[in-house]
Amino acid sequence: MIVSPSVYSMHFDNFKEEIEALNKSVEWIHFDVMDGHFVPNLTFGPGILQTFRRNTNLFLDVHLMVSDPDYYSDVFAKAGADSIVFHYEAYNDIDKCAKLLDKIHGMYLKAGISIKPGTPVETVKPLLDKIDIFLMMSVEPGFGGQSFMPEALGRIEELAAYRKEKDLDFIIEVDGGVSDKNAHDLMSRGTDALVAGSFVFNGDIVSNVEKLRRCE
Ligand code: DX5
Ligand code: ZN
Repeated sequence: MIVSPSVYSMHFDNFKEEIEALNKSVEWIHFDVMDGHFVPNLTFGPGILQTFRRNTNLFLDVHLMVSDPDYYSDVFAKAGADSIVFHYEAYNDIDKCAKLLDKIHGMYLKAGISIKPGTPVETVKPLLDKIDIFLMMSVEPGFGGQSFMPEALGRIEELAAYRKEKDLDFIIEVDGGVSDKNAHDLMSRGTDALVAGSFVFNGDIVSNVEKLRRCE
């Protein structure tokens, strides 16, 4: 199980302590970039990612919720990202998405696609042999602390079955409302990586991560 805490929910007034807790307990850090246009919220710029880069060797898993992922893929690659995941809905165009996935690979980063809850898995199947990560949203993107949408479970099953049928090897990552209440169901359906913000950062980080791992 890869645990990728969303630092959207981190307590930045406690940065040093919390980054140390992450460094000793998880594999990835999930970095939510929101532009106030693709989603009705605004988060971090590249300077904050550089701060994380200076304070951790963990895999920096950048989630672009932006209308111009082509532009911001360069910005966050330069700032230290290890992977760039962007939304199909930014373009609603398979060819444009394929081109951007190639560009991200050309920067020697892992590349991934994400879909909102309302976008069928079928829509992005032509991209699945080009990705390293599939970020399945189990909430409407834009905010932390939302309730898990159980329909994501069937979508993960469909995606994992397709991955097996086509002998593909991308990571299935789930994002939104993840907790110890749904982690086992997610993992048993083929999920490899769990994004969790509010569940991890509300309380003791290390023990909350352990609670997730016990759900494997
Ligand atoms: C939502 C973000 C998620 C969110 C997860 O748009 O992509 O990563 O921060 O937070 P929780 O785990 O609290 O739903
Ligand atoms: Zn996210």
